[in-house]
Amino acid sequence: MTPTARKPRGPPKHRGAPEAPPTLEIGSLPLVAGAKSHPALGLGLWALGRWTPADEARTKATIGRAYEKGMRWFDTAEVYGNGRSERILGDVLLRAAGGAPDAFVTTKVSWEHLRPSQVRASLVNSLERIGRTSVDLYLIHAPDARVPLAETIPALEALWKEGRVGAVGVSNFGVEELEEASRHFASTRIAVNQVRYNLFDRDEAEPVREYCRTHQILLEAYSPLARGLLHGRYLDGEKVSPEVKRFAHRLFESDRLPEILQRTRVLRDLAKDEKLPLAAIALHWLERNGAAPIVGASRPEQVDENLAAWSARPSAAVLDRADAIARGDRA
Ligand SMILES: NC(=O)c1ccc[n+]([C@@H]2O[C@H](COP(=O)([O-])OP(=O)(O)OC[C@H]3O[C@@H](n4cnc5c(N)ncnc54)[C@H](OP(=O)(O)O)[C@@H]3O)[C@@H](O)[C@H]2O)c1
Repeated sequence: MTPTARKPRGPPKHRGAPEAPPTLEIGSLPLVAGAKSHPALGLGLWALGRWTPADEARTKATIGRAYEKGMRWFDTAEVYGNGRSERILGDVLLRAAGGAPDAFVTTKVSWEHLRPSQVRASLVNSLERIGRTSVDLYLIHAPDARVPLAETIPALEALWKEGRVGAVGVSNFGVEELEEASRHFASTRIAVNQVRYNLFDRDEAEPVREYCRTHQILLEAYSPLARGLLHGRYLDGEKVSPEVKRFAHRLFESDRLPEILQRTRVLRDLAKDEKLPLAAIALHWLERNGAAPIVGASRPEQVDENLAAWSARPSAAVLDRADAIARGDRA
């Protein structure tokens, strides 16, 4: 799926410019028939669950900045902060111009709620927290081997038929699970598979990429910046927090970290030579591989930097080089 051309609506920009234009046309990707088109870059609201109430003003400012700068896709889940992430998103959207009807909202049903009656109750509660009558995309957060997809999928499809969800998708699904889920759709199909995917971490995405491409399932990439590493974090002495280590799936473990940091330094040099933000390479590498990145951010300045990265365009040769560096090719 090729994103539609994105046109900046601000003043002319230069390659590698440090600031994003005032609002950026993010670009979009087609979803299933009848669904809203899917923005090519999103803001992930997982972190909203871990921020303390004292951080709430900053949290809201971060989402508000994203909306103000042209981001429309917001990714949340019922499990993020036990619903707190959904509630904060709802508050911010409600206060945005006209209630932000153009926002593209994704939320997810927990892997613990995949029985049909639970799916319905989860969505009702999510909608109540977000303050909307429908969401644009509703995902199974992760499969649960104890609950057959033959039960869950028809329940999701019923919500889609009622217009409460614009499209149905999944997350953390492998090929076998995608095939099994597909068998139980009658009137729509899997729109999206959301998986962990970045230059250094391809284990979950690579095995499903071809399947998704041939079945027109949009691949959404979470952790696209490897928790800030692909912004150059941790290269100059910043310690990796235990929380980042815990959720980064081995990337930051002591047997791998020195090599990963070394490769990141080489990537940073490449970005510097090209006058690009390092994150531009990370995000556009995903785009070229057919994935829509969901970037996390915990402060408004990070949103600005991420949008500046998205507005810069590395050449195909630079992305090839970055791909090789991240894989560890020495040539
Ligand atoms: N479906 C799933 O199972 C699943 C799993 C994980 C995530 N997700 C979704 O994907 C989203 C993104 O995941 P992620 O948080 O792992 O993504 P990420 O984009 O790889 O990492 C986000 C973190 O990177 C740091 N960062 C962002 N911009 C930065 C900048 N400009 N400079 C320096 N550091 C920067 C921030 O860390 P600090 O906040 O520490 O500053 C931010 O919280 C989540 O919010 C969630 O919506 C889904």
